Amino acid sequence: MHFANRMEAFGTGIFSVLLQKKQEKEAQGVSVIDLSVGTPNIPPEERIRQVLSQAALDPKSYVYAIRDTSALQKAATIWYRRRYGVELDPDTQVCSLMGSQEGLSHIALTVADPGDIVLVPDPCYPVFADGPRIAGAQLSYMPLRKENDYLIDFSAIDPETARRAKLMIVSYPNNPTCAIAPPSFYRELIEFARTYDIMVLHDNAYSELTFDGVKGGSFLSYPGAVDVGVEFNSLSKTYGMAGARVGFCLGNREMVEKLKLLKSNMDYGMFLPVQQAAIEAITGDQSCVERTRQAYQHRRDALCRSFSKAGWVIDPPKATMFAWAAIPKTFPSSQEFALALLEKTGVLVTPGSGFGPSGEGYVRLALVQDEDVILEAADRIAKSGLFQ
Ligand SMILES: Cc1ncc(COP(=O)(O)O)c(C=O)c1O
Repeated sequence: MHFANRMEAFGTGIFSVLLQKKQEKEAQGVSVIDLSVGTPNIPPEERIRQVLSQAALDPKSYVYAIRDTSALQKAATIWYRRRYGVELDPDTQVCSLMGSQEGLSHIALTVADPGDIVLVPDPCYPVFADGPRIAGAQLSYMPLRKENDYLIDFSAIDPETARRAKLMIVSYPNNPTCAIAPPSFYRELIEFARTYDIMVLHDNAYSELTFDGVKGGSFLSYPGAVDVGVEFNSLSKTYGMAGARVGFCLGNREMVEKLKLLKSNMDYGMFLPVQQAAIEAITGDQSCVERTRQAYQHRRDALCRSFSKAGWVIDPPKATMFAWAAIPKTFPSSQEFALALLEKTGVLVTPGSGFGPSGEGYVRLALVQDEDVILEAADRIAKSGLFQ
């Protein structure tokens, strides 16, 4: 069999190596504490599950949805007005996604021809690079450096590369570095996109997981944003709906229309009960959002405090459901450190190099376990002697 050349761009990579090592450890009877994958373990509110289950009992729910219901599009605009102060037209500026991941893997197909440049942060959430790869685009990395607060340094982007670039992917609060971006960053981003005629995709998956009184915002709330780009948002973390697969692409009309057109050739729309549950999530009582934020903040505090006591000093992240931690200098790579940590403690973390070359020297820890499990991980780390 001769498969497509494009498949050569995709490796199974470090994530499947880790999964295999995890299974080996479990087979040896070790209980692995998995801090590697960002799967939330906080379920959606009962009111959301009720709407989903009632709709799932309705025999009429099982037709093809084909497209977003107008109720869902309207709900998204109500949500964006109430939460971010952003006005959007429901018909032309909203497109649902079967999770942001789905949109991130497809949108470059609407923007970039093979060989076109797409600017992606490094390190980044992997599909930011894999989506453009599916489209055959050429990636140009924008390194995120600690000394620059992990913000994109626009002055470091080669002007010739910028002129050739079609799309730039940006995301704050940031996975994996946990950085947040100030308003001045968004103004600079919009100016840069205008100057070089680059479309912007801002992924806002973590706007609600901000700590210590910081309030997340929306890229679309900045003047001129809607002229240059779209924002992706997701109900996975904010409402604990990861498995239900709901996200949105919102903002620039032309970009939204092109994505809708592509998707109309790919899928038959989101399961109607999921659309109804999404409406309930984003327009109903929002107190669950604050509770979720508090839960992650407590886990963050438990992790940073207990790991520091165990000898692994980790800067408390300002946002997201992760911590981004430097590895001990005695280890040559983040992958070797992650494997040694798993071997000695049964704690599984993701090597920073899995997020791009600039992630080397770090690992990402996901705040997906309850506090007692986090404390157990810290205890095992303290006993391992890895940080002495
Ligand atoms: C930055 C970022 N964007 C998007 C996603 C995927 O979200 P969804 O579940 O909506 O596909 C994640 C999941 O971890 C993420 O970290």
